[in-house]
Amino acid sequence: MRFFQALILIPIAILALVISFAEAYDPSPLQDFCVAIDDLNGVFVNGRFCKDPMRVNAEDFFFSGLNVPGNTSNQVGSNVTTVNVDQIPGLNTMGISLVRIDYAPHGQNPPHTHPRGSEILVLIKGTLYVGFVSSNQDNNRLFAKVLHPGDVFVFPIGMIHFQVNIGKVPAVAFAGLSSQNAGVITIANAVFGSNPPIYPEVLARAFQLDENIVKELQAKFGP
Ligand SMILES: *[C@@H]1O[C@H](CO)[C@@H](O)[C@H](O)[C@H]1NC(C)=O
Ligand SMILES: *[C@@H]1O[C@H](CO)[C@@H](O)[C@H](O)[C@H]1NC(C)=O
Repeated sequence: MRFFQALILIPIAILALVISFAEAYDPSPLQDFCVAIDDLNGVFVNGRFCKDPMRVNAEDFFFSGLNVPGNTSNQVGSNVTTVNVDQIPGLNTMGISLVRIDYAPHGQNPPHTHPRGSEILVLIKGTLYVGFVSSNQDNNRLFAKVLHPGDVFVFPIGMIHFQVNIGKVPAVAFAGLSSQNAGVITIANAVFGSNPPIYPEVLARAFQLDENIVKELQAKFGP
């Protein structure tokens, strides 16, 4: 009997070992960077510190106000209301967050990427033209679609994507993201509005543009 018990336990032990190796990956970054330091004065962690569980209450998992439209009177004609770990501390380590996106007629959520999360978007009101572009290895293919209320579209992690309101009335969408803090890099702002600016000759060659046009763009997006 002991012998057979041992025979059963061996594969279980091996399986446990394999699982423990599979879980030994580094956790992925939960902010743009977390540079190591020697002195412990300014201690930060990957993500957030955890509150004493005995002091946790329902408010830590609650947010109110996603019924309120964001103000879309801006350059691009859209407004993203973010509900991530900054708004709901209970999202720390949960790997999810949420946004509401409002679009003025002909407004757009300009090309951007989320470095830390995939996105699933559902259109509630209006008509959107949405899409993402795959990586260089996939020949930068555009995956695009016109969405109507109730339609859902997925933007895979890291892919450059956008949404445009092609209707005559305001549009509203909600989206879930697979990170407590997915991050946003708006392409135009990051490239032409970096602080300090990237040398214009670099961007002129990269985008095959006249240097004066680059300087114009940098003036528009600059800090
Ligand atoms: C988005 O809307 C909020 C609430 O109306 C406003 O405070 C904020 O400035 C808007 N953001 C942009 C980028 O327009
Ligand atoms: C929306 O933002 C614009 C520009 O900042 C401002 O003039 C307008 O009063 C705002 N509207 C509301 C409803 O807050």
